[in-house]
Amino acid sequence: MRVLVLHGPNLNLLGEREPSIYGRATLEEIDARIGERAAQLGAEVRCFQSNHEGTLVDRLHAERRWASGLLFNPAAYTHYAWSLRDAVAAVALPCVEVHLSDVTHREPWRRVSVLADVRAALCAGRGIDSYLEGLELLVEIAPGPELDAERMSADLGKRLATGAPRGVLAKELAEAVRRAGRFRWVGLYDVDDRGVSVQGWAGPGPPAHPRFARGEGLTGGAIAGRTAVVVQDVHADARHLPTLEGTRAEAIFPVLDASGAVVGTLDVESANAQAFTPARVTWLTECARALTPFWVRPRG
Ligand code: DQA
Repeated sequence: MRVLVLHGPNLNLLGEREPSIYGRATLEEIDARIGERAAQLGAEVRCFQSNHEGTLVDRLHAERRWASGLLFNPAAYTHYAWSLRDAVAAVALPCVEVHLSDVTHREPWRRVSVLADVRAALCAGRGIDSYLEGLELLVEIAPGPELDAERMSADLGKRLATGAPRGVLAKELAEAVRRAGRFRWVGLYDVDDRGVSVQGWAGPGPPAHPRFARGEGLTGGAIAGRTAVVVQDVHADARHLPTLEGTRAEAIFPVLDASGAVVGTLDVESANAQAFTPARVTWLTECARALTPFWVRPRG
């Protein structure tokens, strides 16, 4: 993945500019940290700063075919420079908006962002980590060719048709969804009168609760509502029952039988808050639909 990093006005003075708000790191140091993290993630970056609105627009235009994602701190332009919003919409690159300070809790005028309707996510208030978390999120969510619902459904269908033992199949299916969608952890669960039980999983470790009651966790919400539950920040949802340490976003997709009863769930987890973009939720909804034969035998 190739990421264009754009910094807006006054960020060239980072290090000496209001350090109690923006920290002591210089822009060069921030760019170096972004470069290091990008290398770890297998991404390429190009960083650019300008104090001029039109120059930022020009740079975005010039890099639009090279870049596959945009990490953008428009600084004060965030709050009024509509040409930047239009430029982001025009190039149609997935964009994560970044701020060192927590713009959502400062002066009211800083709460307005011209990027609000064109960005995939906002990372703010964490200093340099806002950039690093934004980069990780961007690398995870930027749509790749593998996020093709039809192809994925066909792939899952083929795996389901092999007749492999159910435990082996569950692991394979979870791994296929995890790899293609670039998620951290994926699990397939059975749901019946006795509760919820994991059948197969893929990711860095086993679930902390391989079995739990039907009403528990986000899964409980998905079963009760018979609809997907998508939580962009599990720290802010009291229902969350941790599967494994480090998860920040989680989505549960219930699978229903012909009578409308929930018979299974697809549980997907990410280390990045805000990881479930609309495109990924649509893709996962299709995956859950394609996985239905794992729980429900096709008729005939
Ligand atoms: C900023 C926040 C903006 O409101 C401000 O104008 C900046 C920096 C940040 O990174 O916290 O220049 O974008």
